[in-house]
Amino acid sequence: MNNQIRIFDTTLRDGEQAPGCSMDLAEKIEIAQALERMKVDVIEAGFAIASQGDFISVQTIARTLKHCTVASLSRATKKDIETAWEAVRDAKSPLIHTFLATSPTHMQYKLKMSEQEVLEAIAQMVAHARNLSPQVEFSAEDAMRSDPAFLAKAVDAAIRAGAQVINIPDTVGYATPDEMAAMIRYLKQNVNKIDTVTLSVHCHNDLGMAVSNSLAAVQAGATQVEGTINGIGERAGNAALEEIVMAMHTRPDLYPVGCKVDTTRISPTSRLVYSVIGVNAPINKAVVGQNAFAHEAGIHQHGVMANRATYEIMTPESIGLLQNKMVLGKHSGRHAVEERLSALGYTLEKAELDKLFEQFKALCDRKKIISDYDLEALAVHRRSDVTQMSGYKLERFTVNSGNYVTSNAVISVLHDGERFEEVALGDGPIDAAFNAVDKLIPAPAHSLEDYAIQTISEGKDAQGEAMVKIRCGDKVVTGRGLSTDVVEASILAYINGMNKL
Ligand code: KIV
Ligand code: ZN
Repeated sequence: MNNQIRIFDTTLRDGEQAPGCSMDLAEKIEIAQALERMKVDVIEAGFAIASQGDFISVQTIARTLKHCTVASLSRATKKDIETAWEAVRDAKSPLIHTFLATSPTHMQYKLKMSEQEVLEAIAQMVAHARNLSPQVEFSAEDAMRSDPAFLAKAVDAAIRAGAQVINIPDTVGYATPDEMAAMIRYLKQNVNKIDTVTLSVHCHNDLGMAVSNSLAAVQAGATQVEGTINGIGERAGNAALEEIVMAMHTRPDLYPVGCKVDTTRISPTSRLVYSVIGVNAPINKAVVGQNAFAHEAGIHQHGVMANRATYEIMTPESIGLLQNKMVLGKHSGRHAVEERLSALGYTLEKAELDKLFEQFKALCDRKKIISDYDLEALAVHRRSDVTQMSGYKLERFTVNSGNYVTSNAVISVLHDGERFEEVALGDGPIDAAFNAVDKLIPAPAHSLEDYAIQTISEGKDAQGEAMVKIRCGDKVVTGRGLSTDVVEASILAYINGMNKL
């Protein structure tokens, strides 16, 4: 379909910027590939000038992806723009996304620039970006608290200088749906050639209206929406892309143009992002929460049994929710595992597949039913396992605990071919085990900020996925571990986090 709404994903930039959501390179690549499989149009891979690590991840993603446009954010300065270009230039479809604030508050207190200076900077910097890159997006930061007449001038300056995408951010999540729609209509009526560019919105969720605001903008004529998977992002987050996409999918009467996202990739991509940031979906989260398709009340169950349409406006299949039924077993061969992984969206290198197949076989010895969820968990965790192999690797552990003994743990790890062992006491088995790891792995002063464990599938033999968040100064790293033994999963997660530290 022509004129579909463009979906611009900024999970790896605006999402990753949020406290506790930082990701390492391997995790970012994994998410970028999942987004590409989901068929978003643009992936903002990072803010190239922010650090050497950000530059490398934007560049690696630009070089890895095959179809999506890859963007880097940049302030409206020459150095930022040139660095952004260096990072994205090898992409199949590169884009520089440059921004400058247009609200009185930002211009006066942050930029200390007059309106005239802002207009000149937009014209010069967009032109500079266009000299380098075939595609340039300009964002008027804090647009929704800007004077509409001045915003129109800023947008006009950016279009004249060659920007093909104009983005209207509600940077502080202040707008309401009516205001958002009115601003889009105002710009469409008051800016020359606005219909020749992609008109985008980027809504934050401070008042819980980011998704509604984005959809109101679409109805008013916006042709691109920006957001993040699961709505992660600064403060209350960004607009949740899965909610926008499913609203458009479910209500074609209101949003007839739709978008090209493959909705069946929503659930796996959402789970991947939650797993990487070490957070569980809120149980009642729209579209991807655990209860989103659960019908508890008898009257609802009765209705759904008679006809699903009574209480279901979208199907679990439409978002690619997995079935918790046995899909593979101990007689399944490497090829069957590879095929099932590929159906789940994972294409593994040979060495990775060999390792995962070994883990699959070991899991078959410990667990009766191997479901898609189990297989997906092995695929998602293979990166953290690789991280452990390049740092400290758990060799074996013993933990004693009871209600009349002090818990104690003995843990041995391998590092550069050498074996180290420590023993520690603690308040319970996990505390004892973590204390032993602390003795084993030298690290700067740190504290355990969060620890959680959840089951991947159902049954007593379910795999446990453990998550730790370790704080070191203002940096927080997430460690993840997977095992049918929850103590082992926890130790793996802690070692994974300490290796990152
Ligand atoms: O929220 C915002 O204004 C942004 C811009 C940099 C696009 O993230
Ligand atoms: Zn933002």
